[in-house]
Amino acid sequence: MPINNLHPRINGERLNQSLVKLSQIGALAEGGVCRLALTDADRRGRDQLVSWMKDLQMAIHIDEVGNIFGIRLGESDLPPVMLGSHIDTVTVAGRYDGCYGVLAALECVHTLNDNNVKTRRSVAVAAFTNEEGVRYQPGMLGSAAYRGSLPVEKARDIQGIDGSRFGDELEKIGYAGTMKCGEIQPYAYLELHIEQGPSLDWEQIPLGVVDAVVGISWYDVTVIGVANHAGTTPMELRHDAGLSAARMINRIRQIAVSLGGNQKATCGMVAFYPNAINIIPGKATFTVDLRNDDDDALRKAEQQLAVIAREVEAEGGVTIQIHQLEHVPPVKFHPSVVSAIEESSEGLGIRHRRVISGAGHDAQLMAGICPAAMIFVPSQGGISHSPAEYTSPEALETGAKVLLRTLLSLANRNEELKLDVSWT
Ligand code: HGY
Ligand code: MN
Ligand code: MN
Repeated sequence: MPINNLHPRINGERLNQSLVKLSQIGALAEGGVCRLALTDADRRGRDQLVSWMKDLQMAIHIDEVGNIFGIRLGESDLPPVMLGSHIDTVTVAGRYDGCYGVLAALECVHTLNDNNVKTRRSVAVAAFTNEEGVRYQPGMLGSAAYRGSLPVEKARDIQGIDGSRFGDELEKIGYAGTMKCGEIQPYAYLELHIEQGPSLDWEQIPLGVVDAVVGISWYDVTVIGVANHAGTTPMELRHDAGLSAARMINRIRQIAVSLGGNQKATCGMVAFYPNAINIIPGKATFTVDLRNDDDDALRKAEQQLAVIAREVEAEGGVTIQIHQLEHVPPVKFHPSVVSAIEESSEGLGIRHRRVISGAGHDAQLMAGICPAAMIFVPSQGGISHSPAEYTSPEALETGAKVLLRTLLSLANRNEELKLDVSWT
């Protein structure tokens, strides 16, 4: 089935309007968006997405962890090409992270429908549950369950940072589906996303061909000391959990400095208990996010975290518990899918370069079960996970054009894309 010679044109304005509309669901008075996974705002965002999929005559499937799939039927029953990302957000999010990939995929379907373009393979559009991992850990929970690395029963029992149970909240919002995780076995998976970093914007390159994603290790750490009176307790007799947490957080940053390369280290959440001005903290909790595109180096960083904990325990007369929430290894994407994106960009005359993603994505889980790769467009100033996140409508349209052209190339292919899991 020859690809339509006119190369149907993406409607950039329609895509941008859908992003604006989705960002109004869960909009925060002070700016930004909050649709944490399985909250009522997430339910409303999901309902909007499903309604748009139905408008495009797509068949809707919801799986056991609430992953949403819309299917546009092709002319054969060959495995589909899947385009996906997520629509859940971080606590104070911008408009584009995740949502852009899902809505650009819908724009591709809309454009194919408008031009009555048939494809040999069906097209599946996926929105994965809890990619951000803010309310429930691990992040990328939906795609992890989808590929089978997280058992569904285990996912259902995960407790959120607010004490809620994943399975209960999924039922409550009406997205506890019946489709088995992994039932749709894609021929290939493509994810379009904003870069969320500064490189493409700095270098004024309109398109990033993502051939690898960093590995991610998440932890929560609990420091147990002794709560006591801020005025009467001599400094040398204190077991100050807050001080020990601060010492650890400072040394965790040193892990990234000493390892160098692509190593990152972040402590994004911290809390003292009982958290009062005149009480020495008896307990402190904080999170650790370690990343590296080299898994050996990431493991080294994990070992250094354990060493730091023992050192600070001895110095502070406290006890430190480290609980690993996830270790997602770095992945290299499938060379044939990466080249298909490069060919599409060249065919459209769009400058591009290879990039490694410093952010985690569902694609790095999907790469374990099917050939996958990603497409990036620039984030202005490299800002993301912030209301200041911005990508121009022109840049959004460019990315969607490359997504559509790559989709058409893959959706009309017969040849098997052998999955060499050794490098995923
Ligand atoms: O944390 C991440 O890298 C992604 O935005 N979930
Ligand atoms: Mn994302
Ligand atoms: Mn994100």
